Amino acid sequence: MSTETTPKPSISPFKHYALVCTGPRCGEEGAAQALYDSLWGKLKAAGIHQGSERTKFNAVGCFGACKGGPILCVQPANTWYYNVTPDHLDRIIEEHLVGGQPVQELVFYQGDPACGA
Ligand code: FES
Repeated sequence: MSTETTPKPSISPFKHYALVCTGPRCGEEGAAQALYDSLWGKLKAAGIHQGSERTKFNAVGCFGACKGGPILCVQPANTWYYNVTPDHLDRIIEEHLVGGQPVQELVFYQGDPACGA
C-alpha cells in the first residue's frame, strides 16, 4: 500500500510518555505488570490523564536493562527509573510528571532529552 492511500495515524497531544517494562526479567514475578495496571488510575487521580498535561503510557517487552526492575522510562526527558515500587511510582508521578522534577535517587540513567521538552 502506498503512502498516498494509507491513512495517516494520529495521537492526542501529551506532555510526558511513560514506558513501563513488563518483561519477564524485570523485578519480582508480576510486579511490573501490576505497576503498569495501576498507572491509568494513578495518572487519572493526579489529573494528568488528559489535556495538555497528559502523560501517555505504554508497556514495553524489554528495554535491555534487565536488572533492578520494575523499570520506568519517562520521555521526552529521557529519564530512566529503577526499582519502581508502587510508592516510588507515586513519587515519580507527583514530583516528576506533575512537578517537573525527576526523583534523582530513583534514576539510573539520564540521557539527553529525546524531544527537547
Ligand atoms: S525484561 Fe525489563 S528491561 Fe528486560
